[in-house]
Amino acid sequence: MRIDIITVLPQLLESPFQHSILKRAIDKGIAQVNLINLRDYSTHNQKSVDDYAFGGGAGMVMSIEPIANCINALKAERMYDEVIYTSPDGETLNQKMANQLSTYNNIIILCGHYKGVDQRVRDHFITKEISIGDYVLSGGELAAAVICDSIIRIIPGAISDETSALTDSFQDNLLAPPVYTRPAEYNGWKVPDILLSGHTKNIDNWRDEQSLDRTQKRRPDLLK
Ligand code: ADE
Repeated sequence: MRIDIITVLPQLLESPFQHSILKRAIDKGIAQVNLINLRDYSTHNQKSVDDYAFGGGAGMVMSIEPIANCINALKAERMYDEVIYTSPDGETLNQKMANQLSTYNNIIILCGHYKGVDQRVRDHFITKEISIGDYVLSGGELAAAVICDSIIRIIPGAISDETSALTDSFQDNLLAPPVYTRPAEYNGWKVPDILLSGHTKNIDNWRDEQSLDRTQKRRPDLLK
């Protein structure tokens, strides 16, 4: 899978892809992430990519020209399954959406900034708008990193023990059960006996019960 991220702050997005599962997936060639500096597509002398809002008001708006130049240049090279815009007024990211996105070959993510982008970009270039939650970030870069992480980690081969991605919280609309490791007792606090019993079937049943119980208590909305 290839992800092209269009941003005014490419440096901000370097670190998330240089560690752990994402780095390994990229090293293995399972995912390719390209950071594209939007300023490279500006035709202004100062490389500006924004301008004052028509009608007045505080805050700058990202201009259509550099974004159109950039997206058209990318589209001339290959077909894209989705051109995503990160914005607090987009559809909220969830596991189902991440699963769907992880099946695609090529996607573009445009990181929003300032007061957002000229509406004509959204009307004519963007095919999907994603929010990572009901709060406002300084820019779309961290949202793009979250979206990429949620997608790349579930591409087959990214996680060595593939079943582990399947038992994550939210796969099956259930939260994950509690987990424990050694020591079996610390400070008088004991690991549940069942986990030490060696009875795989009983342990699986216990985990299913714990998942359901946790979901009922913490996120009953997921069970509806
Ligand atoms: N840009 C600013 N806030 C955001 C959010 N919550 N989700 C996605 N992009 C954003």
